[in-house]
Amino acid sequence: MRPVSGMSEPEAVAEWAELVQKVLDANVAYHRDDAPLISDADYDRMKGRLAELEAAFPGIARAMTSKSPTAMVGAAPAEGFGKVTHRVRMLSLENAFSDEEVTEFDERVRKFLGINGAIAYTAEPKIDGLSLSLRYEAGKLVQAATRGDGEVGENVTENARTIADIPQHLTNAPDVLEVRGEVYMSHADFAALNARQAAAGDKAFANPRNAAAGSLRQLDAGITAGRPLRFFAYAWGEVSQPLAVTQTAAIARLNSLGFQTNPLTVLCDGPEAMLKQYRLIESQRATLGYDIDGVVYKVDDLALQARLGFRSSTPRWAIAHKFPAELAWTELLGIDIQVGRTGALSPVARLKPVTVGGVVVSNATLHNEDYIAGRDSRGNPIRDSKDIRVGDWVQVYRAGDVIPKVADVDLSRRKEGSQPYVFPQVCPECGSPAHREEGDSVRRCTGGLICPAQAVERLKHFVSRGAFDIEGLGAKQVEMFFRDASLPVKTPAEIFTLAERDAANPLQKLKNRDGFGEVSAAKLFAAIEAKRVIPLDRLIFSLGIRHVGEVAAGLLARHYGTWAGFEAAITHASPGSPEWAELTAIDGVGAVMAQSLADAFQNPAERAAMDALVAQLDVQPVAARGAVDSPVAGKTVVFTGTLEKMTRAEAKARAEALGAKVAGSVSAKTDLLIAGPGAGSKAKDAARLGVETIDEDTWLRLIGG
Ligand code: IVH
Repeated sequence: MRPVSGMSEPEAVAEWAELVQKVLDANVAYHRDDAPLISDADYDRMKGRLAELEAAFPGIARAMTSKSPTAMVGAAPAEGFGKVTHRVRMLSLENAFSDEEVTEFDERVRKFLGINGAIAYTAEPKIDGLSLSLRYEAGKLVQAATRGDGEVGENVTENARTIADIPQHLTNAPDVLEVRGEVYMSHADFAALNARQAAAGDKAFANPRNAAAGSLRQLDAGITAGRPLRFFAYAWGEVSQPLAVTQTAAIARLNSLGFQTNPLTVLCDGPEAMLKQYRLIESQRATLGYDIDGVVYKVDDLALQARLGFRSSTPRWAIAHKFPAELAWTELLGIDIQVGRTGALSPVARLKPVTVGGVVVSNATLHNEDYIAGRDSRGNPIRDSKDIRVGDWVQVYRAGDVIPKVADVDLSRRKEGSQPYVFPQVCPECGSPAHREEGDSVRRCTGGLICPAQAVERLKHFVSRGAFDIEGLGAKQVEMFFRDASLPVKTPAEIFTLAERDAANPLQKLKNRDGFGEVSAAKLFAAIEAKRVIPLDRLIFSLGIRHVGEVAAGLLARHYGTWAGFEAAITHASPGSPEWAELTAIDGVGAVMAQSLADAFQNPAERAAMDALVAQLDVQPVAARGAVDSPVAGKTVVFTGTLEKMTRAEAKARAEALGAKVAGSVSAKTDLLIAGPGAGSKAKDAARLGVETIDEDTWLRLIGG
């Protein structure tokens, strides 16, 4: 490398710009694609050189520092836990709450696979703890990570090493083995821990799950060591060799390697046996000595599991059958109205605090105005048409981690002179009229961005996990900045001018405020800078447009590729236009979502806020899924007629896994039509448009089986 002292400014700028691009590419490859391009050492060297150039040529720094990766936080945060990107994502489970939903799950699985006969499933307790992934290389425990958001978790290796149930060494294990399972605390250990906490004047934990989470996520592993944590293994992530061919045998193998596996795990030959095991486990729930909140069923045959694959965050081959919710009766002290991100007015019950299944509940949802009045959104009676009034005795219902609900009301205890609840017709936050659209069960504030409640909720969404996920800028800080007179943040764009405004603010610098200091203020600014470079899918999700969740944002980003392409298309989309036709042809995008997108992009105030935001960002294009190594990646395919080798659902899932887009109808954009026997109008459309048409066998050869 040339010494900077001998360089001219233009030479320095040229080298700087080239390096910035390399570092940004490396960031995207590492953080987003989970496929590092360069070694950590090379990355550090490039960043070092950038800093050197910036120090020697202050002009560079002044002009372009907002884009320089030297201002960004590195991969591992200096404080707290390091981050671990899971090589195989840690998923959650779909839930079932009734016997019927379990039967339906079995039907869905068999339909997907096209199997008429019975399929075997395992049934095992669902442990109420927190999941942990343990990575072993050459038999040695090298890393332990929490689930985090499923893609990136926290590195808790040192803490995991203190847990007696977790072996440090394995013999006869595959070279790479990630064992997954649940960390939990027994009832007896929980009670003893809380007694010790009380004796030491420390806060008691609300339940064993919180105690286990709090104990595992201690920065000081010495504290974790003093907390009696346990571990059950029930799944795996990356493995260099398959553990077995069935779930049952894989779990037996983990057990023989030295892991605790749950003794109540059994193999069932279908839904009847699964439900029998559910009842058996439920009957033992109170005497197990640890918390469980349901039963998990998994397809036993691992080859079938592989065929079934995953949805965006849950496997198709497993389901959690939850135990019924817990109930309690208490008094309804009042009804508050909260205004959400999309303007929805949500009634919240303020309750006389009551314990429901071990947790103290003082707030519960009342859903919407119809629910309070005793009818559903179609006007049909619910709860025998009993309405809910302030002062009533109400039944509170809690299931798992979801928000408690008010489920019922005791009319025999209703106070004399009580009045039906009148739902507000104007927004309690901004006074704008609150309207109910035809067919919508929710009344919404029409204030849009002028409503402070909507604006602040949108900001909270903007900085949330799946969106910009800015370290040090959570809901609490957003509330604070929103109300701050000297350094206000009312729109997403203003987040990115915070540092500049703070620097220009002679008084009341952030570092001098309560809750901040020199280091934390600098860190916050650096964390914000780091997020100027943002992948398109995250940006779309972060806009908080109604009906556009994370999955939809991914679909849109992969379809349009760039912000410019996306923005131009949506700006011109209205029913009947070619842009509308293209938008609604994306599999997973319907007319409701399309309208909501068009409304947002065509509303001047919303549009101004978006433009101001994008001007602050470097939006990274998103490639069509799996663009690298599949002959169908990026292609739009359509299936028609009868498929004989697999069901339509499986064919669609496989095509998508290989990076193809599966559309429902043939258009000029279609690359390939796969036509089975009985193909009708779609085959004709394809012939007319000159779209290549192949049969199922040719398709299977094309995708390699
Ligand atoms: S299997 C790919 N089995 O429940 C599926 N999960 O609600 C991997 N959990 O994140 C999960 N007991 O933390 C599985 N016997 C069990 C479980 C279990 C508890 C947790 C796990 C998961 C969550 C989903």
